[in-house]
Amino acid sequence: MAIDQYAVFGFPIKHSKSPAIHAAFAIQTGDAIEYSAQEVSPERFEQTVTQFFEAGGKGLNITVPFKERAWAMAQNHSPAAKLSGAANTLYLNDQGQLCADNTDGKGMLRDITENLSGQIRDKSVLLLGAGGAVKGVLPSLLAEQPASVCIVNRTLEKAQQLSLEVGGVTSACAYEDLKNASFDWVINGTSAGLSGGVPPIPTSVLKPSSSCYDMVYGSGDTAFQAWAKCHGASKAYDGLGMLVEQAAESFAIWRGVKPSTAEVIASLREQINSNA
Ligand code: ATR
Repeated sequence: MAIDQYAVFGFPIKHSKSPAIHAAFAIQTGDAIEYSAQEVSPERFEQTVTQFFEAGGKGLNITVPFKERAWAMAQNHSPAAKLSGAANTLYLNDQGQLCADNTDGKGMLRDITENLSGQIRDKSVLLLGAGGAVKGVLPSLLAEQPASVCIVNRTLEKAQQLSLEVGGVTSACAYEDLKNASFDWVINGTSAGLSGGVPPIPTSVLKPSSSCYDMVYGSGDTAFQAWAKCHGASKAYDGLGMLVEQAAESFAIWRGVKPSTAEVIASLREQINSNA
C-alpha cells in the first residue's frame, strides 16, 4: 500500500523544521506517512499544488511567500482561514474540493494557554503588526475572549482596516499613540525581528505583570524577547511552541488524531540550543 504523502511548500524552504515535527508526530501516533519540504518556484506554485494532489498527495502545509496564493486556490475556507486571507494547511475533502485552513492562531493560543499556562480571557492585548501573521491569529485570539485587543502598526491605515474588518473588542493605533497605556499581553507579529529589529514600542506598554510573546523563534532570545526582558516584562516567550502546535493542528485535520506536543517542543528546543 502506498504511504500517504504530505509536504510543506515554500520559497526558500531549507531550514524548515516541519518534516522533523511531522515525523515525530507520525512515530507517536503509529501513522505511516512521508512528509517532505519542497522549495517551489514562485512561477509554478499553483501548478505544483495541483500536481501534488492529482498524484494522490494527502495534505500540504504552505509557508512564506505562498500563504495568500494557497488561500486563493481553495474552494472551501475554514472560519480562521476566511478572515486571514492566508492558508497554511491544504487538503481535499470527500468531494475532491481543495480546502484551506489556517492553524497558526489555534497553535499560538494552545501554546499560550496550555503549554505556558497563560490567560488571555479578560486580559488586555497589544498586537504588534497588521500583516499576514497577525491576520492569521486574530480569529483564535478573539475567540479566547480577551478584554481588548489593540492592533498597532507602523502603517496605521492597515491596523485601522483590520480592526474595522474583525470588529469586536479590537481597536487600532500608531506606535506614538501608545504612551499612556499598558497591557497584560504584548504579542509580536511583525517581521521586524527578521532583520534583528524591534518595532518602536514605548517601554511604558509594559507593567510588572505583563507577558510578551514573539510569534517567531531563534537560537537564544529573539530581539523582541530580549527587549521585553530588558524592560521588565514578567515573562517573555518565543514562538517555537506555536510552530509545533500549528503543525499538530494540521496533522489533526489530515489524520483525525491530535498528537501530543510537549516532547516534540522539548527536543526541538534542545536541538536549536545545541546548534547555537
Ligand atoms: P507577515 O506575513 O510576516 O505578517 P507582512 O504581511 O509583510 O509579513 O507583515 C509584516 C508586518 O510587520 C507589517 O505589519 C509591517 O508593518 P507595515 O504594515 O507598516 O509594513 C511590520 N513590520 C515590518 N518591519 C517592521 C519594523 N521594522 N518596525 C515595525 N513594524 C514592522
